[in-house]
Amino acid sequence: MVEKTLLVEKKLLEKVSSKEEIKKEIKEEVIEKKENSKSEMEFPKIKEEVKPKKLSIEDLPGVGAATAEKLREAGFDSMLAIAVASPGELTEIAGLTEATARKIINTARSKMDMGFESGDQLLEKRKNILKVTTNSQALNNLFGGGIESGAITECYGEFGVGKSALAHQLAVNIQLSKEKGGGEGMAVWLDTESTFRPERIKQIAELNNLDPEKTLKNIKVARCFNSDHQMLLAEKVEDLITKDNLPVRLVIVDSLMGHFRSDFAGRGQLSDRQQKLNKHMHVLQKIASNYNLVVYITNQVMSKPDTFFGDPTAAIGGNIVGHNSTYRVYLRKGKKGTRVAKMIDAPHLPESEAIFQVTEKGLVDVT
Ligand SMILES: Nc1ncnc2c1ncn2[C@@H]1O[C@H](COP(=O)(O)OP(=O)(O)OP(=O)(O)O)[C@@H](O)[C@H]1O
Ligand SMILES: [Mg+2]
Repeated sequence: MVEKTLLVEKKLLEKVSSKEEIKKEIKEEVIEKKENSKSEMEFPKIKEEVKPKKLSIEDLPGVGAATAEKLREAGFDSMLAIAVASPGELTEIAGLTEATARKIINTARSKMDMGFESGDQLLEKRKNILKVTTNSQALNNLFGGGIESGAITECYGEFGVGKSALAHQLAVNIQLSKEKGGGEGMAVWLDTESTFRPERIKQIAELNNLDPEKTLKNIKVARCFNSDHQMLLAEKVEDLITKDNLPVRLVIVDSLMGHFRSDFAGRGQLSDRQQKLNKHMHVLQKIASNYNLVVYITNQVMSKPDTFFGDPTAAIGGNIVGHNSTYRVYLRKGKKGTRVAKMIDAPHLPESEAIFQVTEKGLVDVT
């Protein structure tokens, strides 16, 4: 009996010690990982700026499980998203009647704290906003000092106009110190058309006296296979920040519409496409504002055959893209190989133009 107990005890001890060992091993591994990540990046950690409100949309009258699902699918996943929606949007997306949509929106508005903040609080918040340099003073001025964090910046224009060139430039510049117009952080690149060129990053880094290898390490690239994958990857950016502790400061989507355009090519699929696109844009907006990130998206153009005056091209993606982009810039080719950027939509900036050039060194002013 005693022997048996001893045996059991011995076995238990063995178990415990092996558990201890495992624990120790795990601990060592974690420390090692932490040290690795420390030596790789010397950027400050990203904190969540605003905690999202945790109120469920099922609390709204007339929103059952099916409607809630439809609303969520389209990106209306919070009280706030519904409170700021228009009845037309909800009717189009969730198939509600106009009257129900109105009722839901009004209830969402009355139920939630719309979050009044005093002017000085807002000014304090605005102080944290980054203005990331494009390398061209003229282009920086067009954006009111640089590409802003906490917002979505969209550039659209025909092929070869410099949309991806600006993406490469920003992926490097985001890593600069704040004094130099950077964001002291990393870039995430959602690549839908294999346009990311590591050689180009190396070239820009070298010609700007930065360590090319380090610069490349601080850019995380993910190839998107289709629009669903693209949407999923955008959602995963939050995990990189909160779970992997990566100091992500810039998210690039180049190009936004490529997959959406081909995945929903049929005539009857337009409303499906717009729903998904709306959700994707909301996710991008949410990460931009919750983590004070720069979100840069590129977009293609289509010709408007019914235009008689002005430029006969328009960005694709319709109102959903336009309304969800904070800054919207149209790029076109200018004289002698220059590029012209025109601010189409911005909250507090005038409609103006800037001229720049794409060179080996990256984007530069026209001299
Ligand atoms: N290393 C370089 N040196 C000089 N100019 C370059 C260099 N790399 C790219 N360019 C210029 O940038 C242009 C390519 O621009 P970019 O790839 O950004 O176009 P885009 O707007 O993204 O087009 P698309 O719609 O095809 O994706 C080229 O036409 C070229 O003029
Ligand atoms: Mg491109």
